[in-house]
Amino acid sequence: MFMKIKKLAFVTSAAVILIGTICAAALYWHPINWKSAAGLESVSNEKIWRSFSLRARLCVQKAKGGVPELSWTELWELMRPESGVHWIEGRSVEGSFVYSSTASEGDRAAGACIFRKRCTGCHGSDGWGGLHGPSLNRSGYKHGDSDLAIYKVLRDGVPGTAMPSAALPPRELLQIVAHVRTLQVHSSKDLKAGGSGLAVKVSSERLQAAGTNPDEWLMYSGSYNGWRHSSLTEITPANVAQLRIRWIKQFDSNDPVPVIEGTPLVTGGAIFMTGPAPNVWALDAKTGDVIWAYERPMPADLPLCCGRNNRGLAVQGSTLFFGSLDGYLVALDANNGMVIWQTLVASPSDGYSITGAPLVVDHSVVVGVAGGEFGIRGFLAAYDVSTGQRQWKFQTIPGPGEAGHGTWESDAWRAGGGPTWNTGSYDPSTGLLYWGVGNPSPGYSGDARPGDNLFTNSVIALHASSGKLAWYFQFTPHDEHDWDSAQTPVLADLVIGGLVRKVICWPNRNAFYYVLDRVTGEFLVGVPFVALDWAKGLTSAGRPIPADAGGVSAAGRLTKPGVGGGTNWQNPAFDPIRESIFVPATESAAIFTKLAENGAMPGQQGLVLGSGGIDVASPPPRFVLALDAATGRRKWEYLASAAALDHSGLLATAGGLVFGASAGYCFALDADTGREVWRVSLGGKTMAAPISFTVDGRQVIAVAAGRALFVFGL
Ligand code: HEC
Repeated sequence: MFMKIKKLAFVTSAAVILIGTICAAALYWHPINWKSAAGLESVSNEKIWRSFSLRARLCVQKAKGGVPELSWTELWELMRPESGVHWIEGRSVEGSFVYSSTASEGDRAAGACIFRKRCTGCHGSDGWGGLHGPSLNRSGYKHGDSDLAIYKVLRDGVPGTAMPSAALPPRELLQIVAHVRTLQVHSSKDLKAGGSGLAVKVSSERLQAAGTNPDEWLMYSGSYNGWRHSSLTEITPANVAQLRIRWIKQFDSNDPVPVIEGTPLVTGGAIFMTGPAPNVWALDAKTGDVIWAYERPMPADLPLCCGRNNRGLAVQGSTLFFGSLDGYLVALDANNGMVIWQTLVASPSDGYSITGAPLVVDHSVVVGVAGGEFGIRGFLAAYDVSTGQRQWKFQTIPGPGEAGHGTWESDAWRAGGGPTWNTGSYDPSTGLLYWGVGNPSPGYSGDARPGDNLFTNSVIALHASSGKLAWYFQFTPHDEHDWDSAQTPVLADLVIGGLVRKVICWPNRNAFYYVLDRVTGEFLVGVPFVALDWAKGLTSAGRPIPADAGGVSAAGRLTKPGVGGGTNWQNPAFDPIRESIFVPATESAAIFTKLAENGAMPGQQGLVLGSGGIDVASPPPRFVLALDAATGRRKWEYLASAAALDHSGLLATAGGLVFGASAGYCFALDADTGREVWRVSLGGKTMAAPISFTVDGRQVIAVAAGRALFVFGL
């Protein structure tokens, strides 16, 4: 019996080896000459022999019941040299099967062509994900990243899901595989061989304590309270003049006017930042060397009012989050720049884009949208940090039956604007998220939208866990001057009327400075901080009292402040020792003109403005103001530039300094007096606020200008 089995086994093995050899030999003497087969023109005989024996082994494996991935006919087809598959030595069939990296340009193009016809309906153009299929512009596919794994998904589909079998011959399947792999490759470039050496890990607790560890810069405003304050004291008014450049990193940019607006994040010895396009970079904080870069190709025809801007990232764990101009929220692995997930937040075809930095609160990443000039209906939404699943969505333009809907007396709410294009603040003690809401649409003419138009030009306080509205305060009801309330909310505990109150400080684009109770939304203080004539003042509830200059007219009316308002999105900074709020301010006036038809001004085609404003002095003068945070009383002023298009947000430091930039210059001011104590030309557009952190225990100041990041230290 034993002998019989042994004999049988011997016969079977012999048969298997024979089959294998015959197959392989058949392949070897196949009419197509090996040497002329694609990619193998210059191979040696030894190589031919090796690939021949590899094929023989595959056949043997198959005959023994291995290689279940491929049928006999398929294996035969794919082993032929003209199939284009490059079989290499590997532990598994999956590892041996190489196609995409050796595929010809022609094959890739053929794959792209099939992809456009058969896949984009679900997976989006360029595989960026759509309503019916996941994004393919990432690594870490659920069903595997190898050529064979993708080939199998295309061949068989994913049963039980919408993913169909492509029902195409192997050759075409391979061509699609080659194209799909380019979608993955373009999604990230790991520039350092052998791993990045990064080990980013930022817990929720560390985010809550952000701002107390001055070695890092963990979120857009440096901390949840929106202070933009560093407790570092090494650089002072006495020594700031000795600041020297540590390094400069220039970034490639195809933009005609390159400008970085983003605030970098700093953790684990690396700087993470975004630039136009939007691209994301990880830099060595010591040298400025690029550790990895994520480059995201952008469609040319996005609905953008104001350039290809991005204002930065959020981080939690080892994941970075950013909103992309094409409406996606993207999660990247901070350690290598690979895409973990991406979710379509809102579609550019509906007028949306994303320019603001997201904010992570616990297990949610909160992101707002831009598009107030393109007739969107604004919202704020939260997504699960691990999966990208949406957790809640708050419509900033309430629909029928929702609180505030009655402030839209026509159907205009459907495209009522109310974007949430900058980053908000968060108070762990109230569990509330505070976010500024932008202008109603059309921006400069309210004729079509009678009513107060909630929640445009308001601050909304939402329960961070549910997205439910706790309270709101509208700064400018029925706005007709594009005075977005996109400013960063500054949260502080201040003595007001003899009592310590939890407040929000808000220098608004409408030129009033507000203090509100942040638990209840109660209006406490409201005073002009630059010249204004659109309102006579504020009522005891904080509502503006209309003045003649306030209404736009067809004849044109001169109004203060002008188009950019008293301040814009550029962030203020808060000094908790001096209880000063430093405001990037503009003194301006503009002639606002309502067009007869709800059209656009020349050069503004495609934008839903209804009218427009032209500044009297363009560009206007830029100031830094120090206000007493509790009263709005002006402590000092500094003229940063007599006329500048570009100016930045501000940074306050415990060393007693205020840093900012305008008209291509970075400056430092004495926080007590506003005296300029340092000034350096950076030679590029300065729109991004400076930040401070430590490198090897020494305080540095980082600021972007043009397409470069500058790092200064003593
Ligand atoms: C009808 C919609 C639809 C079409 C058409 C479609 N897909 Fe898919 N595809 C999906 C869905 C849904 C999934 C996710 C399946 C799952 O959950 O595993 C998917 C998954 C995939 C995956 C695997 C992703 C992963 O993470 O493992 C790949 C690769 C893929 N599709 C490629 C393609 C290509 C290439 C085409 C065109 C030949 C195509 N798909 C056509 C809906 C579609």
